[in-house]
Amino acid sequence: MGLAVFLTAGAKLFEVIAPVLLGNAINLLSGEGDLMAALPLALGGLTLFAAARFASGGLPQLRDAFFSPVSQDAQRLASVDAFRHAQHLSLNFHQTRRTGALNRVIERGAGAIDYLIRFLAFNIGPTFIGLILAATVLAITYDWRLALVAVATVAVYVVFTVIVTEWRVKQRREMNKADTSLRAISIDTLTNFETVKAFAAEERETFRYDAALKRYNKRYVTVTRSMNLLNAGQEFIMNLGLLGILAVAAWQVADGPLRVGDITAAMLLLFNLYRPLNILGWAWREIKQGAVDLEKLYGLMEMAPEVADRPDALDLGQAEGHVRFENVGFSHEGRAVGVQGIDIDVPAGRSVAFVGTSGAGKSTLLKLLFRFYDVEEGRVLVDGQDVRNISQASLRRNLGLVPQDVVLFNDTIRANVAYARPEASEAEIEAAMRQAQLLDFVKALPDGLETRVGERGLKLSGGEKQRVGIARVILADPAILVLDEATSALDSGTEAAVQAALEAAARGRTSLIVAHRLSTVQHADEIIVLESGQIIERGSHGDLIARNGAYAEMWARQATRDRLIEAAE
Ligand SMILES: Nc1ncnc2c1ncn2[C@@H]1O[C@H](COP(=O)(O)OP(=O)(O)O)[C@@H](O)[C@H]1O
Ligand SMILES: [Mg+2]
Repeated sequence: MGLAVFLTAGAKLFEVIAPVLLGNAINLLSGEGDLMAALPLALGGLTLFAAARFASGGLPQLRDAFFSPVSQDAQRLASVDAFRHAQHLSLNFHQTRRTGALNRVIERGAGAIDYLIRFLAFNIGPTFIGLILAATVLAITYDWRLALVAVATVAVYVVFTVIVTEWRVKQRREMNKADTSLRAISIDTLTNFETVKAFAAEERETFRYDAALKRYNKRYVTVTRSMNLLNAGQEFIMNLGLLGILAVAAWQVADGPLRVGDITAAMLLLFNLYRPLNILGWAWREIKQGAVDLEKLYGLMEMAPEVADRPDALDLGQAEGHVRFENVGFSHEGRAVGVQGIDIDVPAGRSVAFVGTSGAGKSTLLKLLFRFYDVEEGRVLVDGQDVRNISQASLRRNLGLVPQDVVLFNDTIRANVAYARPEASEAEIEAAMRQAQLLDFVKALPDGLETRVGERGLKLSGGEKQRVGIARVILADPAILVLDEATSALDSGTEAAVQAALEAAARGRTSLIVAHRLSTVQHADEIIVLESGQIIERGSHGDLIARNGAYAEMWARQATRDRLIEAAE
């Protein structure tokens, strides 16, 4: 950065020296006396002029060559910081936030760091240094009035540009709004083609599109015209300034102290000053936008995760798998009803099942165990440690989740299984897949483990995806297995296969199972029946059937339905 600033300053210095060299050479050639004698000196001066111009044009290139890795590193470090920070923010944040928007904040914020450095350190800053240098040279070498005209011209130019640009920002905003609504209309119509066709609304939609396009075009014309106005105004000020310089110089030549070469030099100095001013309007806008983008990035960085490790958080290490919910209460933001008074003890290696209607709070309880949210009342304990005292990473290393919809990365089957433990050996990966009843299927594919699964795993069936999810968890080898309706989305045939895989995975682990089909959880050590966030019944399958309560009723209903389906088949 220091080197880059130094090179920029050097370039400016040569930019100011070059016109003076040319002016002197012209003075030599236009002087009285023996021109042939003056020629070598003049040629020397012209050579220096060319060299100085080369330096003023070449040094910025050298600077960019040095600065480019700095700029890339600065952007990378900022992006990585923001990316890491965003990933550590709580589940709640990510559920509320649109993914695309978050990505944009990071990308634009990192870009803004680069813009701001470039514009301020390499453009605006040097332009002002150049102005001071040029004014000094004009005043000392030629005449102070020339310096005055140059400074005044630049000042008027800058003020005019900033005022007009501010006015244009509003117009651009209007144009962008029109653009957004145009896109919204076109995307909305094209994605809802079925509705449009069903209501024979093609012409109506086209008319709406045309109207939006007209609004956008009108704004676009306004923006372009104001840019024409800005450019014309800038040209006028520049050339008025040029006229001023030339007039003062001409007068000084006529009056005596200045010579023809000096007019050329003064003119060139002014030209050099004008050149970077060209992008001032644009730079001004970018700097303001950059400041906004940077502010958003800092806003993200300052956001504290709702669930954070305590500074003295413990490492759980290899857990035994004793899970305990102690009088737990929690409700989601903006919800009146949550889970309440949940008291459950699952000794290591045992299994507990949660059943109940949709929305009863089963998944919420599992998320509390993962500490995706913090409890509001009571405690969740693993091996006797409050999960709030354990580091999240060490807690989750001991937990393995198979959700209802396993979502895969757009990568190979091997990579998706190995995600649980990237350093796992080939044999371990295959063993996990065999246990998940996945290996035979995968081996039969033409590409085997290298088969790509498509975006979010779309190229695999539901049952295959579930089994990839199970293999992944088996490979992770957690002490506690959490199944959240892992088979609910499957048909009964596929369910049987996945169920067998799940039973293999659960062996020797503490398991917390949420299941829709009661037949899959009847062997659990304890079954918890939840309703509206509260435990209404609990006990073994036998106990609950004997009780003849809500569970027994659900059981009877499912049994009847199964018999009907069987009869139909
Ligand atoms: N992120 C969330 N924000 C607000 N409310 C939520 C959120 N997640 C779940 N809920 C609500 O909490 C209740 C319990 O949900 P959940 O635990 O997913 O039920 P289950 O898994 O038993 O079907 C539901 O009423 C649901 O609408
Ligand atoms: Mg659920």
